[in-house]
Amino acid sequence: MKHCITALTAILAGLAAASAQLPPCQDPAAPIEQRVEDALQRMTTAEKVAILHAQSKFCSPGVKRLGIPELWTTDGPHGVRPEVLWDEWRQAGWTNDSCVAFPALTCLAATWNPDMAALYGQSIGEEALYRGKDVLLGPGVNIYRTPLNGRNFEYMGEDPLLASRMVVPYIKGVQANGVATCVKHFALNNHERNRHTTNVSVDDRALYEIYLPAFKAAVNEGGTWSIMAAYNLHGDQHLCHNKRFLVDILKNEWGFDGAVLSDWGGTHNTDEAITNGLDLEFGSWTNGLSNGASNAYANYYLADPYLNRLADGRADTATLNEKARRVLRLIFRTAARPGKGPGNMCSEAHYAAARRIAGEGIVLLRNRGGVLPLDLSRQPRILVVGENALRMMTVGGGSSSLKVQREVSPLDGLRAATAGRATVTYARGYAGDAGGEFDGVTTGQDLTETRTPAELIDEAVGMARQADYVIFVGGLNKSAGQDCEDADRASLGLPYGQDAVIEALAAVNPNLIVVNISGNAVAMPWNDRVGAILQAWYIGSEAGNAIADVLTGRVNPSGKLPMTFPAALADVPCHADGRDYLGTRRADADIWDVSYDEGVLVGYRWFDTKKIKPLYAFGHGLSYTTFEYGKLTADRDHITAADSITLTVPVTNTGSLAGAETVQLYISDVKASVLRPAKELKAFEKVYLEPGQTKNVSFTLGRDALAYFDADRHEWVAEPGRFKAHAAASSADIRSTCPFTLD
Ligand code: BGC
Repeated sequence: MKHCITALTAILAGLAAASAQLPPCQDPAAPIEQRVEDALQRMTTAEKVAILHAQSKFCSPGVKRLGIPELWTTDGPHGVRPEVLWDEWRQAGWTNDSCVAFPALTCLAATWNPDMAALYGQSIGEEALYRGKDVLLGPGVNIYRTPLNGRNFEYMGEDPLLASRMVVPYIKGVQANGVATCVKHFALNNHERNRHTTNVSVDDRALYEIYLPAFKAAVNEGGTWSIMAAYNLHGDQHLCHNKRFLVDILKNEWGFDGAVLSDWGGTHNTDEAITNGLDLEFGSWTNGLSNGASNAYANYYLADPYLNRLADGRADTATLNEKARRVLRLIFRTAARPGKGPGNMCSEAHYAAARRIAGEGIVLLRNRGGVLPLDLSRQPRILVVGENALRMMTVGGGSSSLKVQREVSPLDGLRAATAGRATVTYARGYAGDAGGEFDGVTTGQDLTETRTPAELIDEAVGMARQADYVIFVGGLNKSAGQDCEDADRASLGLPYGQDAVIEALAAVNPNLIVVNISGNAVAMPWNDRVGAILQAWYIGSEAGNAIADVLTGRVNPSGKLPMTFPAALADVPCHADGRDYLGTRRADADIWDVSYDEGVLVGYRWFDTKKIKPLYAFGHGLSYTTFEYGKLTADRDHITAADSITLTVPVTNTGSLAGAETVQLYISDVKASVLRPAKELKAFEKVYLEPGQTKNVSFTLGRDALAYFDADRHEWVAEPGRFKAHAAASSADIRSTCPFTLD
């Protein structure tokens, strides 16, 4: 024993001595800032420039000579992207890079449950770690401004508070693994068409109240280690080298100490990239994702052109050091972090997490006469109709496309969940796109259909007459022009003639349940004629199981919409009065000027203020049980600027099933010197209640919850006067109101 201890002591002493001999930049025990500064002073100018740009599609070099590792990034944000070749978008053909696809971020936002965001972040972070990735390119928090935006499914809805509350735990969960998040796309990237040439102007009040808060929360509360700058322009300057956004706001105002990554192919100008806050350049010469020039890395804006400017004195060393410092910090926080675990991939725990998050995010929009949950006690005949019941949804949509280990289709999920208790048949109903491919990953599904739309409808209707339930699974998919990057939707309506199929089914069967798969609001002209509607998002690997959980009542739905479903596109502010959300193209340049004229009236803020009835309101979502709200009361009726106010409302589960309700607290400023939205979400909490159980839900608000952003003074202002707090089940369903006064 004594010998062992002596030997161990010698080994430890040896290790300590070895560690003492290591330069601080290589010493895992040294504090990160010390490692950064030590590395900086050992690096040559060329080495510093080298770490500021990519060396392949997804990785940047470290400093081999100093033992500083490469930095590997990956998409993001719903699963870990499969490996592509070093310098091409084509698949590397690995057989061990199939992942778990987690629900799309819209679905996560619809849980209204920060614990689900933490679980999501932790799980996807573990997958990224296992795959040797240092930076996960996500999550996205661009505000949902139009339902036509092809990328809304990658974001967290229309409300800055909801997106802020959800993004923070996601970041912490990922980064707990030593993997950085790269929160994107900073900022004002609210639609996809013309994304490289859209120049957005927006007033500062809307910027600070609507478009920036989730990014600010990501930086100041989540502590994200990196940020991805967006493709579009503001003030005629691309966001990837935009002084106002990257230097003034992100780094100076918010004190961001991480690295700013360009979006892939979003850099256009060396001088601006040097001075305006870009730290790490990716994807140049690729026009985003397509037109790749081989091995162009030395020509990147922050590569040889930067070196030349440093050599002839046009660029200064202090700025170079600052960029290198940020990139080194990112490397030491991630790739060179000591004690990183192995992570894990495709574990049962990850599938369980995906299913749980989905179960909490699926939204029951309508349930006429309690048609759901399915009554399986009498061996019902269930007819499933629609292409989305079969279609794999994890392939397509752009950079978030995945290669999954498994994906359960809605049809298979339902069959498994009802086996022995129901007969399930299927009719196609409509035909969408036959394909299913992204960058060489294919679904392997052949969805070719030769029958005419009328024949498909006839078949479905004939079968529907014989069924106890008809479940139509349709919506959008990830093909171009649907929910897909680099393009927007053509209209709010469902594609492929689905409305006609739904109308025909509704005419013959009252127990018609529509399961809408989409990352966006869609028009529902048949709303009043169908029994139930589930908003089921893109759910990923566990799609079919999670949908079946809700249909059969294994899971009591508790999701709430993170965006407004408008009755018509023209009801949405950026489409109102014939406005074109794409703006106007300049006569002399390929630039699209878009002005966010609706200001702060985005989403429900517009619908409420203008008294426009939506199809389904922000925050709406039903349960199989019922909740009753008591009276909202406050601990005081007058507050001063320094105080806080605590508002409490009792909520009771008045039904016979356990369930969860998200209690939403909105504030109205009764009289203000500026236009204020009719009400704004300032807090929420999801509570789980057994039948008959009551819980008091309390919210404590400070002055910041009452304030608006005064652009002239560049500060938040809470005007004295009367306010109202509303406890609500959705933005259109206020259950109790409590007035108070700010002195
Ligand atoms: C997308 C980013 C993505 C990047 C890398 C870009 O086209 O806008 O969100 O992370 O490609 O794939």
